Parts: sequence; C-alpha cells; structure tokens
Amino acid sequence: MGTQSDIKLIEENGLRLDGRNPGDLRPIKIEAGVLNRADGSALIEWGGNKVLVSVYGPREAYPKHNQDINKAIVKARYNMAAFSVDERKRPGPDRRSIEISKVLSEALESAIMVEQFPRAQIDVFIEVLQADAGTRIAGLTAAAVAIADAGIPMRDFVTGCTAGKVNDKVVLDLSKEEDNFGQADLPIAILPKSKKIVLLQMDGDLSLEEFDTATSMIINAISRINEIQRNALSAKVKVDDAGGE
Ligand code: CDP
Repeated sequence: MGTQSDIKLIEENGLRLDGRNPGDLRPIKIEAGVLNRADGSALIEWGGNKVLVSVYGPREAYPKHNQDINKAIVKARYNMAAFSVDERKRPGPDRRSIEISKVLSEALESAIMVEQFPRAQIDVFIEVLQADAGTRIAGLTAAAVAIADAGIPMRDFVTGCTAGKVNDKVVLDLSKEEDNFGQADLPIAILPKSKKIVLLQMDGDLSLEEFDTATSMIINAISRINEIQRNALSAKVKVDDAGGE
C-alpha cells in the first residue's frame, strides 16, 4: 500500500486508469484439469495475474508425527516464480509467502471435508507465474477449482475478491497501480453457499461506511466469480465425457 494518495488513479469521468468503473472486475478465465500428473489442477488468468495450482492427495501424511487422527491436514504452498514480478523475485519462501500459505491453507481447510480423511495430507501448490495484484485471491479461487477437480469432497467452494480505496473512492478488484498507490486493500474470501468468511485481511484504512461498501461490492462480485469456477469444472467434465484427457 502506497502512501501517495495524491497520485491520480481515477479520471474526471469517474473511470479508473484501465477504463473500469469502480465496481468492475478485471477479466477472469479459469481452466480446470490442465496438468496430467497432478490429482487436480487449475490455471487462472485474472487481469494480468497468471496462477497455476496443482493438488495432490488425500495421501498419508508424512512425517507421521504430523498426522492428525481426526482429519486431513491441508497444506497450501504459495510461491512466486522468480520471473513473476518486475524485479526478479529471490527464489524460495519469504515472510510474505509463508503468511499467505498459512491463511490460504486455513481458508481451504474450512471448505474441504477433512474429517473424512484422518491421518491424510492434501497438498495444494499455488504457483504465481505472473503477478499483477490480487495473487493470493486469484490463487485461492483457482485452488478451490483444482481441489474439486481432484475429486476431493468439499462442503462448499471458496471464492475470493479484493476491494480497496483509491483517491478516496471504494473500488473493486485493485489493479497493480491501485494496489501500489492506493489507500486501502481488502482481500476477502467466502464460502459462497454457507456465506461464511474464511479470509479477511486489510492493508491501509477504511471508515466503517467504506468497509460496508467494499464488502457489498465483493459479495456481489463473488457470485459472478463462483459461476466462472463452476463453469470451469463443467467444461472439464464435458471434455472428459468426450474422451479427452
Ligand atoms: O498479490 P496480493 O495482492 O495478494 O499481495 P500483495 O502483497 O498485496 O502484493 C500486491 C502485488 O505486489 C502483487 O500481486 C505483485 O504484483 C506485487 N509484488 C511484487 O511486485 N513483488 C513482490 N515480492 C511481492 C508483490
């Protein structure tokens, strides 16, 4: 989050620098089952973000002392490729990616029927190939599709979106410039059927009224994004039925 709220991110006509209205999403495309070796996979393109997710499991958790006798462990690993950002990202985990991996693991766990798989582990590899703001939410949204593609039983989807504040105005789905130079960034993920919040983080500050506007925008967008997730899975089923891989 930048400190320079004086940078012009909204034009006189009310449009954002990329021509969007405050409540518009960037284009989102999801493809399920893109990898042959993984149990489940999905590729999401969300604005300029490209994130590939592969899922393995449920399989016996290893080392054994990590096993939970009551449920499967969900281990999401969020990783940014060295070439995913403007300045080469040093390979390997850093504080940011460890934190994101933790919050994404917890969000996914609340959607998966983990109690059906005691002592098991479900691995979710979230690889950011190209980053353009909102990668944790893009990765989480694709991860839910990849988990469903792996045939892992879920009680609900997980769907996320971001809103924020730029030039004192609440806008949906921040672009890279808006994320860098805006005043607030609020990623939220929910279970769309049960309407439970499973991830909520905030950078910057919002008034209570702005927070209400931002969450309404997000909840409205989440039903559209969830439809894209479900369409990706049904498109994959159709390919399978036709004898594709
Ligand atoms: O990606 P997300 O919005 O979930 O997380 P963030 O920490 O708010 O990062 C916002 C954006 O900053 C990322 O999407 C990247 O485009 C960029 N970024 C970067 O250029 N280099 C990094 N090491 C981390 C983030």
